[in-house]
Amino acid sequence: MISPIFFVVSLIVSCFYASNVQDFCVADYTAPQGPAGYPCKDPARATVDDFVRSGFGVPSNTSNVYKFGFTPAFAFNLPGLNGLGVSLGRADVEVGGVVSIHSHPGATELVVVAEGSSIIGGFIASNNKVYQKILNKGDTMVLPQGLYHFFVNQGTTPGIIYAAFSTEGPTVQLMDPSLFKNDLASDIMEKTTLLDAPQIQKLKKLFGGTN
Ligand SMILES: *[C@@H]1O[C@H](CO)[C@@H](O)[C@H](O)[C@H]1NC(C)=O
Repeated sequence: MISPIFFVVSLIVSCFYASNVQDFCVADYTAPQGPAGYPCKDPARATVDDFVRSGFGVPSNTSNVYKFGFTPAFAFNLPGLNGLGVSLGRADVEVGGVVSIHSHPGATELVVVAEGSSIIGGFIASNNKVYQKILNKGDTMVLPQGLYHFFVNQGTTPGIIYAAFSTEGPTVQLMDPSLFKNDLASDIMEKTTLLDAPQIQKLKKLFGGTN
């Protein structure tokens, strides 16, 4: 039988080591990224700068068809986030701009409108029901993981939306580019989307697709 004193001592020792060893796993960018993220940099070489990133104080570049820009603080550019399951982004949406319909497979998103008003935020559930609301400065909205969502700035001032994600490196699937910025043959597109040929050609041209 294990003596109670030995048991308590083992517990204390294991807690001590667990808290020391697993505080963080700063990304080692010199090694390739695997399915579980980046390997850990030697913790003794981690510095505070591995946990700090500047850049959210300036607008992201919105010179595009959507008048939308995005600045990420993800594990690939904020190494201290590696393995911690959370990340942040700054979205800028000009007057009349949109965040086009997209999803983040595997990541839930929580946004707060930091600047702007009359910004429609919405998502589409898997039963095709739309949940949308006009958001103003200070409003938050949650976009459940994997569901298509969008924003439209109908206000008269630029919108700034901060978005937190439930993974440190959320992926994004933009609906229009995933359909039209590829080399899938147009006749297959016609069959699989029921869109007509001129519309497919127009959108392939806009997004840089071929075939
Ligand atoms: C913003 O993006 C556009 C389009 O990609 C590019 O031409 C322009 O140089 C960028 N502006 C800045 C300030 O980076």
